[in-house]
Amino acid sequence: MFFRGKEDLNPNNIPSHVAVIMDGNGRWAKKKGLMRIFGHKNGVKAVRETVEAAAEIGVKYLTLYAFSTENWNRPQDEVNALMDLLVDSTHSEIDTLMKNSIKLEAIGDLDSLPKSTRENLQKAIDKTRNNSRMTLILALSYSSRWEIIKAVKEIAQKCKNGDLNPDTLSESDFVNALSTSGIPDPELMIRTSGEQRISNYLLWQLAYAELYFTDVLWPDFRKDDFFKALFEYQQRERRFGKTGDQLHAETKPVPDASTYNKTA
Ligand code: IPE
Ligand code: IPE
Ligand code: MG
Repeated sequence: MFFRGKEDLNPNNIPSHVAVIMDGNGRWAKKKGLMRIFGHKNGVKAVRETVEAAAEIGVKYLTLYAFSTENWNRPQDEVNALMDLLVDSTHSEIDTLMKNSIKLEAIGDLDSLPKSTRENLQKAIDKTRNNSRMTLILALSYSSRWEIIKAVKEIAQKCKNGDLNPDTLSESDFVNALSTSGIPDPELMIRTSGEQRISNYLLWQLAYAELYFTDVLWPDFRKDDFFKALFEYQQRERRFGKTGDQLHAETKPVPDASTYNKTA
């Protein structure tokens, strides 16, 4: 089945959480003979379109990978430019967030961000606190292994203090120690630019996510590209370890007592 547009989407099967790896800014700029930072600057429009599309269609949580722990290893001028861009765009996009009632949150090692980036981010988080249509989570100076180690340390400390018992430690104790605590796992992960890898992103949370890869470079990503990813998601059968037959049987109406009597 071909995707023709937003109207082809089943409104009853919209993922509640979509995670995105916004990749390909550098290559987009290079293709145009521009410096990499122009790719990052032109990625802001794609962020706006994705945020609006997600809110419009009823996605409740949208997580965008904006800067990884490993990205600190890029040339210093690119890192500086990215940090400046983050300050500028959190500032310039605040109206869009307010207009669409979108709440901003951030995950990652925020203490490692420059003061101006951190302060601007905090201002936007505070200002949008009471918005309720969708939560936009920026993964900043984020890596999944960093997050997992941080959770393990927190749990180890609680066990030491006697607040948690290692013998009864459960999956939910671990989930509560992650930075995404309280947020449902993403049902769909989108990565642009043709790369097919996870790059240290939400390793625990993506355990059962559908993965969608597109060759579109991030600065070219538009609402329809987002809706197309959702459409592809809706064509997938999510089995969670079961067989396809089991799933189809579960969706059939359960016969009531009178049916049993008739066939007995
Ligand atoms: C993604 O684009 C943005 C960040 C990682 C901050 P890239 O900068 O990775 O672009 P490519 O992969 O080099 O094309
Ligand atoms: C992942 O993209 C991080 C972000 C999109 C912020 P990268 O471009 O840094 O990923 P790798 O290193 O090529 O896998
Ligand atoms: Mg990249």
